This record gives sequence, C-alpha cells and structure tokens, in this order.
Amino acid sequence: MFETLGRRTILSLAKSPGVGRLVRRFGPAFGATRFVAGETVAAAMQAVASANRDGILATLDHLGESVADRRAAEQAADSYLEILDAIAQTGVKSNASLKLTMMGLDIDRDLAVTNLRRVLDRARTHGNFVRIDMESSAYTDVTLDIYREVRAAGYDNVGVVIQAYLYRSEADLAALDQLAPNVRVVKGAYQEPAAVAYPVKADTDRSYRRLVQRQIGHGFYTAVATHDPALIQSTLGLHADGDRYEFQMLYGIRSGLQRELAQAGHRVRVYIPFGTEWYPYLMRRLAERPANLGFVVRNLMQR
Ligand code: FDA
Repeated sequence: MFETLGRRTILSLAKSPGVGRLVRRFGPAFGATRFVAGETVAAAMQAVASANRDGILATLDHLGESVADRRAAEQAADSYLEILDAIAQTGVKSNASLKLTMMGLDIDRDLAVTNLRRVLDRARTHGNFVRIDMESSAYTDVTLDIYREVRAAGYDNVGVVIQAYLYRSEADLAALDQLAPNVRVVKGAYQEPAAVAYPVKADTDRSYRRLVQRQIGHGFYTAVATHDPALIQSTLGLHADGDRYEFQMLYGIRSGLQRELAQAGHRVRVYIPFGTEWYPYLMRRLAERPANLGFVVRNLMQR
C-alpha cells in the first residue's frame, strides 16, 4: 500500500514541522536504526569494523546538515577530526563523507571552506580521503566551486559527487575533466523540479549509465554508488580495471549484495551514517523506497 505514496509526497511531508516532531519523538522506532549505525563515534567504528570483517571498506558520515550557527559548524568540523583520528588509531579501513552545509555553508562560504580545509588537513596527515556529498540543486554550483578551490589549493585527497538526475551533470563532469576528479556517481536523493532534473526514473537510470561509462572511460577513479543491480551489472560489463572504480552502497540497504560483490573480489564501500541528526537522512531513505514505510509501521506495531 505504501508504494502508492510517491517520493515527492514523502519528501514534501518531511518538511512539515508536525511530521518532523512526530518522527523524531518515536525515534529509533521509526526505523532509524536500520539505516543509521548509532549515535556515537564508538558505535560507528563498530559498524566499520564489522563491514571490514566482510571485506567491505567504509565511509563515515556524521549526520547533520543546514547548520545555522558558526559554533555548531566548527564543532561539526571538529567531529570529523575526531573521526579521522579514530580511523587512524584503530586501523580500520574507512574514509569520511561530509556535507558542506554542515561545515557552515548556509552561514558563510568562507567558514565552510575553512572548516573543510581543517578536515582535509587532518585527513592528509593520516593519508586519508574525504568525499564532499552533494546536496540539493541549490548547492550544486557552490559545491563544485569549493571542490575546485580546494583542488587548486593542492588538496588531492578530496572527491565530489555528481547526481545523474540533474540535466546539467554531464556538462559539470566535462568541466572537471582537467582535474581528473574522483567522482561518486549517484542518482540523486532530493526533491527537484522538472526544470532541473529528470522527472522520469528511466531517464535518470540512462543518465547514470552514461556518466559512469564516461568517467571510467576517461580512466578517472569512479565510485559507482547505487543499489541498482542493472547498473552494477552494466558497470561490470565495462570490464574496466578493478583498481579504477569501487561500488558504494548505503548502510542497511542490500547488505547481501554488498557482501557478494566483495566476496567476488570487487572493491565495495559502505556509507555509514551515525549521529543524532538522523531525521532528514531517514526521510530521504523512506522517499527512495516508499515500501520502507511498511517496515517503519511494523516496527511501531511491535513496540
Ligand atoms: P534505485 O532507487 O533505483 O534503487 C535500486 C534498488 O535498490 C531498489 O529497487 C531497492 O531494492 C534498493 N534500494 C534503493 N534505495 C533503497 C532504500 N532507501 N531502502 C531500501 N532499498 C533501497 N544522493 C545525493 O543526492 N547526494 C549524495 O551525496 C549521495 N551520496 C550517496 C552515497 C552512497 C554510497 C549511495 C549508495 C547513495 C548516495 N546518495 C546520494 C543517494 C542516491 O542519490 C540515491 O537516492 C540512492 O542511492 C537510491 O538510488 P539507487 O541508485 O540505489 O537506485
């Protein structure tokens, strides 16, 4: 029954303060624990260690976005320093993913860049890598701009994300070619108008295939981030050098497929979100697959 609820409906409902209060109040019962590894760095590190035991790499995401005060943005950057230190100290195989609005982008672009550079510096000290997640289309220009800026400043331990649902993505990739960028290709998780994004899923899927083929064809390291078996198969069909790409999937989604690919010798990385600010993340996961709402309701009824 939940399949009939559209992605757009769920993403719109997610913006309602009333729905937000309700979902936050019932917290983990709403299924947050299926998609989020816990609230603390320690819990997240356990999830990383467990993935590593299955031969799967990780990328850690401290949940949080649209931070509205400078101190919170600085603390968010500090939390990434802690994560990178914890990865180095424990020797687990993980890098980090972050959102620029968590680094303060909505407050002041320079603040976000300063915070990002602190994180990249620490990652560099540990020989590690940081991926800048891509947020809604309101941030595409500024995110790519900041990516260029840090690359020009000499950071090569940083990657970015391109969303296949945006019409502009092929042109964005072409404009990055001279940097030989490390790009994570995703379908895109935000509510976007037809003026900027393909409204029909099949078009997004075709765009996804083209973008991956393009990046791998150019020999640029590519993170193929999808749970879509057809797109995973088409990537394998490119017979590319296995050192030039990796598959990425989200914590709690298609875990069996993650393990199968890793066992077959492919490089697989799981995106592990943790922290208390799980609400927008959870709502995006529900919107991707409205059937997940059934899972949420079952959780509530079992309480
Ligand atoms: P699709 O939605 O077609 O799903 C294919 C199949 O996967 C489904 O049939 C189902 O079986 C399974 N599946 C997918 N989503 C599911 C869910 N929520 N619950 C249960 N099963 C599900 N987006 C963005 O805009 N910016 C970003 O920075 C990122 N970063 C990112 C990192 C990584 C590692 C991944 C895997 C994804 C992202 N995304 C993202 C999210 C991405 O844009 C997209 O919304 C999701 O990956 C879902 O799309 P699929 O490619 O999986 O295909």
